[in-house]
Amino acid sequence: MSNGSGIAAKLARPNILELQPYRCARDDYSEGILLDANENAWGPPIDAQEILERYPDPYQIPLKEKMAAFRGEGVKPENIFVGVGSDEAIDLLFRIFCVPGKDKVITTPPTYGMYKVCAKVNDVEIVNVPLTPDFDIVVPDIIAAITPSVKMIFLCSPGNPTAKSLPLEDLEAVAQQAPNVLIIVDEAYVDFSQSSAICLLRKHPNVCVLQTLSKAFGMAAIRCGFCFGAPDVIQLLNNVKAPYNINQLTSKAALQALEEDSLKKLQSNIRGVLAERAVVAAALEQLEFVVKVYPSDANFLLFRVQQSAKAVYQYMADHCGVVSRYRGTELHCEECIRVTIGTPDDNKAFLDALQKAYQIVTQQQ
Ligand SMILES: Cc1ncc(COP(=O)(O)O)c(C=O)c1O
Repeated sequence: MSNGSGIAAKLARPNILELQPYRCARDDYSEGILLDANENAWGPPIDAQEILERYPDPYQIPLKEKMAAFRGEGVKPENIFVGVGSDEAIDLLFRIFCVPGKDKVITTPPTYGMYKVCAKVNDVEIVNVPLTPDFDIVVPDIIAAITPSVKMIFLCSPGNPTAKSLPLEDLEAVAQQAPNVLIIVDEAYVDFSQSSAICLLRKHPNVCVLQTLSKAFGMAAIRCGFCFGAPDVIQLLNNVKAPYNINQLTSKAALQALEEDSLKKLQSNIRGVLAERAVVAAALEQLEFVVKVYPSDANFLLFRVQQSAKAVYQYMADHCGVVSRYRGTELHCEECIRVTIGTPDDNKAFLDALQKAYQIVTQQQ
């Protein structure tokens, strides 16, 4: 695994490189009579199963070790940042690498909305290099859009809302041709697909990979995400994060999720979701008003209806209690709805609601 060869020093904001990270007495002494952190040793006012009165581990090494073993590819704990969801990593990357009002990032619409939100919060300009109508990246267009102020390129694979995995060759081509830009591959849905860009880390210190326990692991409530990357980039993420970002309950649940039995259950849940995805996709294909069902490498389907997608989406939510996501305002997604694959009962309810909603909405027009 690469040591990063200075990519962080080349790209990060000077104030971040100079930062002295927050230190606490617990960094040096974690056992004994702990009277260093102004906690309340009398404990919480609730009956709790867990020790709640102590600040949690700021480093999460056991969790990083388990995650490294799970993902393989020579990944070590120093290649992993643990965040409050992958959204925390996205936000920190903007804060570390982009000077507000000056630097830029490239995104490839249609894509995940948080890149735009974090860019706006940090006063960073977005340069859009659209996906093709079939949702592939155009490597030469991305490379042509790079200027000295472009610090990061966000590539979502499998994409949201596209559901499509980007070919590893395309991701590697971008990493190779843009050695002085950080390539962030967002793999929130990776466990539903075939390939991960983690294998690129060894050769390309400018690649970071984001993953999460919110999707295939089914643990969105605990807010736990990961950034894999070169140790110098990961060190900066650790320097900038809040000292105790991962809470005790999250870390315990995340460790449990990576145990052997849990990973078996994970695989069987994924198989279940994928089988249901095929059922829903086939049912959608049968509906005469569904114009296109996009192929999916994720736990959701993007599909296009003949007309009135927004009204159909609203009718399903307001009158059938089925909440999907209208995506018709996104590039190349006119009249599109995105639906997550739920339990078999959820999916049946969705398919019934969709037919009813389409019929009523289009009759009214
Ligand atoms: C592509 C993508 N990246 C990141 C996230 C955020 O995940 P987390 O729950 O880990 O913050 C999402 C959530 O929907 C997503 O779709």
